[in-house]
Amino acid sequence: MNRLRIPRPDDWHLHLRDGDMLASVLADTVAHFGRAIIMPNILPPVLTAADAQSYRSRILAAIPAGLDFQPLMTLYLTETTDPDDVISAAASGQISAVKLYPAGATTNSGSGVRDFDRVTPVLDAMADNGIPLCVHGEVTDPDIDIFDREAVFLERILDPLRERIKGLRVVLEHVTTCEGVDYVRQGGNDLAATITTHHLFINRNHILAGGIRPHNYCLPVAKREVHRLALVAAATSGDPSFFLGTDSAPHVDAAKQSGCGCAGIFTAPITMSCLATLFESEGALEKLEGFVSRHGPAFYRLPINTETLTLVKREAPIKVPEKLKTPDGPVTIFDCGQPLYWAVETS
Ligand code: NCD
Ligand code: ZN
Repeated sequence: MNRLRIPRPDDWHLHLRDGDMLASVLADTVAHFGRAIIMPNILPPVLTAADAQSYRSRILAAIPAGLDFQPLMTLYLTETTDPDDVISAAASGQISAVKLYPAGATTNSGSGVRDFDRVTPVLDAMADNGIPLCVHGEVTDPDIDIFDREAVFLERILDPLRERIKGLRVVLEHVTTCEGVDYVRQGGNDLAATITTHHLFINRNHILAGGIRPHNYCLPVAKREVHRLALVAAATSGDPSFFLGTDSAPHVDAAKQSGCGCAGIFTAPITMSCLATLFESEGALEKLEGFVSRHGPAFYRLPINTETLTLVKREAPIKVPEKLKTPDGPVTIFDCGQPLYWAVETS
């Protein structure tokens, strides 16, 4: 097979930033994806329905002319989030989910949650109204090894939380471990997970062996190969609990190539080529459509996109640019380490 037509995919976890960066990165997402769940960790964060509405209009204004794209907005959960604001924003379609960052877990998460008991009223209201909670699933305890932070989060925080708040619909964002995959597999209809592009390709050696590679550094950090294999198995299995959330997270090179480089990998431009390559090498090309176009809408209770996207396998590897130029400086595009033969057909 050298041609694959699928319903237009969606990206269920995306960082678009704001201002010049938003204007620079948006076109790459809009070129391939119909919708995306927009992460609220901009500065200042998207805290209220009014913030979401204003960020949404900035995104819409930055969409290149003639292209169609629907940003699905999220609110950044804090210990002072107002349950009524969440409920009314969801009821009116202004937001599609709420994002939980444990305070200090990742880029711009300083306003996140420290005391999980304090968000119980909001989470109860969300459970009653079927509003999904997108979770950055890592503990922030400095005593916990960074490679264990996801597994410990599931045990200490997420599982007790889901026991306490029955019916809360949860997306374990950017799952990176066997433990996470197993937990989601057994979690029933109220639990799903997004899997990123990069975690399907890199393990921790790709960050640390043969020199430190800041452009492969993200959070949650990539784990051992056995975990990557579990993610590949989950993504290509056809299990509707798993769907694509690229976590495409642009930072300028100067911020990544530094004594304290920030976390985030920019994958939007090459995600579809990377995934087609991977699914083909796993003998699972027919499962790609579920992962990128069907499972996400099913969980978010949205229709599948009616437009389509066609992937074509070329004779020679496609040329992938190394960087995206932005007014703030260059942003390195993820290098998956393999030649990519699959291209998105542009008419
Ligand atoms: C994200 C970012 O840069 O905003 N970084 C990352 O490493 N994934 C935040 C996040 O999703 O953790
Ligand atoms: Zn993210």
